[in-house]
Amino acid sequence: MNFAVFCSGQGTNLQAIIDAAKKNRIKAKLALVVCDNPKAYALKRARRAGIETAIVDPKRFPAREKLEAEIIRNLNKKGIKLIALAGFMRVLSDRFVRKYRNRILNIHPALLPSFKGAHAIRDALRYGVKVTGPTVHFVTEDVDGGPIILQEACGIKEDDNEKSLLARVHKLEHSIYPKAIDLFARGNLRVAGRRVIIK
Ligand code: GRF
Repeated sequence: MNFAVFCSGQGTNLQAIIDAAKKNRIKAKLALVVCDNPKAYALKRARRAGIETAIVDPKRFPAREKLEAEIIRNLNKKGIKLIALAGFMRVLSDRFVRKYRNRILNIHPALLPSFKGAHAIRDALRYGVKVTGPTVHFVTEDVDGGPIILQEACGIKEDDNEKSLLARVHKLEHSIYPKAIDLFARGNLRVAGRRVIIK
């Protein structure tokens, strides 16, 4: 099964996925990296690993519809069956999400449904929760609201700042995201309403 990773920035999750795939820990082929930022470091990681990239620059495709059409063209070319969003900084249209229903995963740096949105690490720190951690979930039209596949928790220390907490959450992300992709690839995930049953 071919899958694609979508990213916009650093691509540390992409790297974890590349490394896991290399060690045969993911029963699928990472066939494409889609990136909406031509300057993203993630692109370097992809090229270094010899993975094909598709850059969908919003400057070239200012209308979301056109940008998504370009993405779909690339996905079709590679026969992509699963999409893993990893720091992809744009919201996909309802139409796109419906087209790939239950075939788009996302990783979020908080224990959903807490701290949805783009500043989950900062929000968790400010709120003062004692425990946080990443969530891998299916993407639905409800942003950060889809059925949850895996979560992992870590404590928040009194002297934590955004940088130290991000480092701890990232470490967990890099372990659960490849696992979730592998579970999907093996056909071991079943969505039952809001719940995901892991076989
Ligand atoms: C991760 O923290 C992920 O949870 C969020 O975006 C960040 C991407 O980081 N969705 P990276 O580009 O994988 O380093």
